Amino acid sequence: MELLVDLFGYLSIVLHGATLAGQAIALGGALFLVLLAQPKAWLLGATGARISDGVARLAGWAALAMAAAEAASVALPALLLADTLQMSLMDALGAQFALAGMARTVLGLVLAALLFGMGGRAPWWLVLPVVLGVLATATLSTHAAARLEGSLPLLAVSGIHQFGAALWIGGIPAFLLALRRAQVPGAMVVVGERFSTLSIIGVACLLGSAGALWWAYIGDVHGMYGTAYGVMVSAKSAMFGALLLLGLGNFRLIRRLRRDRGQSPTRLLRFAEVELGVGIAIFFAASSITSVPPAVDLRDDRVTMQEIIERNWPQWPRLESPDHAELTQPALQAKLDAEAREAGRKPQLAFNPGSGILPPRNAADIAWSEYNHHWAGIFVVAIALLALLHRAGLGIAGHWPLVFLGLAGFLFFRSDPEAWPLGAVSLMDSLRDVEVLQHRLIVLLLVVFALFEWRVRITRQSSGWQPKVFPILTAVAATALLTHSHAIANVREQLLIEITHTPLALAGLAGAWARWLELRLDPPGNRIAGWVWPLCFLLVGVVLLVYREA
Ligand code: HEM
Repeated sequence: MELLVDLFGYLSIVLHGATLAGQAIALGGALFLVLLAQPKAWLLGATGARISDGVARLAGWAALAMAAAEAASVALPALLLADTLQMSLMDALGAQFALAGMARTVLGLVLAALLFGMGGRAPWWLVLPVVLGVLATATLSTHAAARLEGSLPLLAVSGIHQFGAALWIGGIPAFLLALRRAQVPGAMVVVGERFSTLSIIGVACLLGSAGALWWAYIGDVHGMYGTAYGVMVSAKSAMFGALLLLGLGNFRLIRRLRRDRGQSPTRLLRFAEVELGVGIAIFFAASSITSVPPAVDLRDDRVTMQEIIERNWPQWPRLESPDHAELTQPALQAKLDAEAREAGRKPQLAFNPGSGILPPRNAADIAWSEYNHHWAGIFVVAIALLALLHRAGLGIAGHWPLVFLGLAGFLFFRSDPEAWPLGAVSLMDSLRDVEVLQHRLIVLLLVVFALFEWRVRITRQSSGWQPKVFPILTAVAATALLTHSHAIANVREQLLIEITHTPLALAGLAGAWARWLELRLDPPGNRIAGWVWPLCFLLVGVVLLVYREA
């Protein structure tokens, strides 16, 4: 249970993100079924019923996934509450968050039963009330439920916001399934045109409600860059903008497909795949937004534009590292070790992972971290330049994925100097600290996609699942970075660091999905994408090179 306490903050953001993504795909699939697949079945011929049944099954599985994630999202805090406050589990489950969560879980199971039970014939008058029920319970975990004033209109706005997210982003898996089953261009146009209309309604709901949410929770420009809440909403808005461009590209292609059935629908599928990938990252960003206080509630302790400019003003990177012994934790550990030796007893640990006690930092700690980011930047710039050279025809440069192994080794040794192998804290104990755990996971991700991508390059493989490992894991790493938080006592310092990490995550996400398009688009789109992703990595490298913590 203690381990759960330590990791609780991060686990609850990840679980809530999974709930939001599962909810959107379940509701989006159910809405796709009753607003497109069923009413348009007569136009889709023999594939009509196959599309409806497939969409119902897909939405049913998503509803089960949402119910499972939401049940875990309720069980985790309820168990911790019962354990830490010595109260009965039943009392803990009586709390408002738990009641709302349990209602959402039950409605998810009802939706799954309905869709699995009746398949593509599930009638709208049974499906829509359950969809509305899930949306209503979903709003109870947003900030609107905790507002003293105006919470009812805000609950309605949050509901419209999540409805829009489900209708558009949540409907994409069903859209992809329908396109794959539609086969004939005529059927694709029928599906594409109706889904365009649903997406436009979804975008309108998202945009309208986003304006109201902005006004209620942020309210001024300073709130957008001076608070963690605002910075995350800015990141969401940037991803939203990218999705609108992809959506516009598909809207225009469907109109061309209607005029000329000979057009290839490949781009339609590929852009929709990327919309879904970026959309899922937005759900995790949304999950971390609701875990921090709205900007309007944080009038003091805001970061100024001046501070952001000063902190990010480019300076020559730090290529010399302070000594490990100068760092706060190792220095304190050495002192504790000496005292224990004198007293003839087992030394105490200077750093107690997961204790939630934020360690003090001295200038050497800051220099050590800056050195790490700068050298990581050099590795990533090297990878990007080698990938560009390989793209330009230099064969030997195709071994660039091996440079990721160097970066993984570098980060393994240096990311957490208080823990093994450099520090006194054992590997297993160090995993109790959420930041150390995230660093170790990133190192693992780097090793996996380095080896996969190298094998793909030397075997010149372009089809199958192996080439997809690199873009997918890069997207996972970028999404994890988006919801990554730093255990630093000073709120402003924490935000100044996150302000640098957010563009890193966005550039990583753009790079991941550009590589996906290089693999999946027809020429010339795949060639253009093949130049775009190394440039995104180059941007990541440059941002790391100018990274500073003081
Ligand atoms: C594709 C685009 C978008 C999707 C899929 C999306 C999705 C979501 C979801 C699912 C939530 C609920 C989070 C929860 O219940 O924990 C949410 C909350 C929120 N969204 Fe969006 N959103 C999108 C675009 C935007 C944009 C452009 C804005 C810009 C203002 C925005 C502002 C917000 C805010 C402020 C909240 C938090 C509400 C709260 O604090 O309770 N969203 N979003």
